[in-house]
Amino acid sequence: MALDIILLGAPGSGKGTQAERLQSWLPLPHVSSGELFRDAMESDTELGKLVKGYIERGELVPDEITIRMVAERITRPDCDQGVILDGFPRTLAQARALDALFERMGRRIDAVLNIQVEKQVLMERLSGRWICSQCDRSYHRQNNPEQVRGSCDACGGDLEQREDDRPETQRRRINVYEEQTAPLIRYYRERGVLVDIDGEQDVDAVAQDIREAVEPLSREIV
Ligand code: AP5
Ligand code: MG
Repeated sequence: MALDIILLGAPGSGKGTQAERLQSWLPLPHVSSGELFRDAMESDTELGKLVKGYIERGELVPDEITIRMVAERITRPDCDQGVILDGFPRTLAQARALDALFERMGRRIDAVLNIQVEKQVLMERLSGRWICSQCDRSYHRQNNPEQVRGSCDACGGDLEQREDDRPETQRRRINVYEEQTAPLIRYYRERGVLVDIDGEQDVDAVAQDIREAVEPLSREIV
């Protein structure tokens, strides 16, 4: 039996931070569509060239491209036991495509963690965020600082800011979330898999609430 979890939330809500916390006790791959796109842009692949403009403008990459990329990733053998999805799905079309894919694989979504954070807090978080250029771990200048300034606690890589964290792009991404992704809350609530999480608590408290929601589902894996 696989365990498939979605982290749903606006830009800056803490999806990446919490995916990493989950992985500290749940041995499942973390699949972030945003990270897959950023890796492709860094390696300057065809996919990277194709998606760069959308990401820099803070718009969604078209569904067809995104669905193909994520489907290819989650059908690899390391996802046989399940997956922690971060940033996918983000539209109703993506959610339906994921349901269809899992159905063909004899699986279904077990839990959708809806990490709720107010807009003002999102903007503060994105403005203070620094990311490791090597392992993508994220830090925050005030809330979640690295131990040695400018260097990743986990791997020692250099920290950098994300191109799409500029204030005008932040606003655009948050609006896009409200228009295109927030409808998924209802979609998953109706399927009985949505769990609301108060994302404005500190990182440890959010991680604890998520653990309490996921642990009962994970007996066969941990
Ligand atoms: P993506 O990479 O998914 O970015 P996002 O959704 O905008 O989310 P972020 O990564 O900005 O935030 P997060 O929720 O992971 O927060 P984090 O943990 O870093 O997507 C980027 C782009 O790719 C999109 O705009 C789009 O163009 C494209 N894309 C990706 N997926 C797509 C899809 N499915 N379809 C189409 N296009 C797609 O935390 C943020 C900051 O807050 C950090 O500094 C962190 O340290 C801090 N923090 C975290 N938790 C807390 C807390 N509890 N208290 C205080 N500070 C905290
Ligand atoms: Mg992220």
